[in-house]
Amino acid sequence: MKGVRAAVIPAAGLGTRFLPATKAMPKEMLPVVDKPAIQFVVEEAVAAGLDDVLFITSRGKRALEDHFDRNTELEVALQEKNDSDRLALTQESTDLARIHYVRQGQALGLGHAILMAENHVGDQPFAVLLGDDLIDERDPILPRMIEVREKFGGSVICLMQVPQEDISLYGCAAVAPTDNDDVLEVTDLIEKPAVADAPSNYAIIGRYLLDPAVFEVLHRTKPGRGGEIQLTDALLELSKMSPETGGGVRGVVFTGRRYDTGDKLSYLKAVIRLATEREDIGPELRTWLAEQDFSG
Ligand code: UTP
Repeated sequence: MKGVRAAVIPAAGLGTRFLPATKAMPKEMLPVVDKPAIQFVVEEAVAAGLDDVLFITSRGKRALEDHFDRNTELEVALQEKNDSDRLALTQESTDLARIHYVRQGQALGLGHAILMAENHVGDQPFAVLLGDDLIDERDPILPRMIEVREKFGGSVICLMQVPQEDISLYGCAAVAPTDNDDVLEVTDLIEKPAVADAPSNYAIIGRYLLDPAVFEVLHRTKPGRGGEIQLTDALLELSKMSPETGGGVRGVVFTGRRYDTGDKLSYLKAVIRLATEREDIGPELRTWLAEQDFSG
């Protein structure tokens, strides 16, 4: 079985839920306190041993590309000031991994974005990380997903139990048990089901380990919900295919800390939660929050 080295990070979406902030700025660059959300995602991939990172980008993502390049002008200025702390912060994102970019010419869906990785990834299994989900570094899930792929083959998705009334915000999986408590066999997948139609409260969150067979499936996946080529549709097809052709999908159940940064309210909650845990600003922020009267 081949190991997993490549992480694909789709970042070619339009970011409409954050307008007007994202009119001229990638949503992936929105700061979580002082670090762009996307840097957390790259750090997570690297911590799991995935040192080959491929971003799927599009028009208007220049700031994201610049963030992972060196900024020599800034570095020289900080060196002249002997500001080694800020110099280290500036350089942190440039030395993380081998970073590559490929463009998705048109936002035709997450499945279509992943298809753009085909030439780079070839016939290797690879991880996909969505920037809308931040996984707390204290609760890593990718290493477990890699183990499950090594054991079962096929593809592995990440499932999280959510309150039943929230399931219509997510892709939802119908599941059957396996011998491992934290691993489920995926038997069906439905993108954003009505609460009454949801087969479970297992939501798909933005971490995937995909067998390269996904490319052949995506090539023939027709536009689905919203007129977009949906990764969920391709995963459903993979779940029905035999192991000999790269089929089979298992879900690893995630019970750790995850922060949603995909919409305004969740993003604000994520920023506040993570800010309160910081050593530098956390204590003062917690005191301030406790003192506030939010009754209007
Ligand atoms: P989202 O559904 O969150 O879409 O995509 P979005 O454009 O980023 O944000 P909103 O909904 O308009 O606010 C999920 C992930 O898939 C990527 C996005 O960048 C995001 O990481 N994506 C989506 C693409 O790369 N290409 C696409 O065509 C669609």
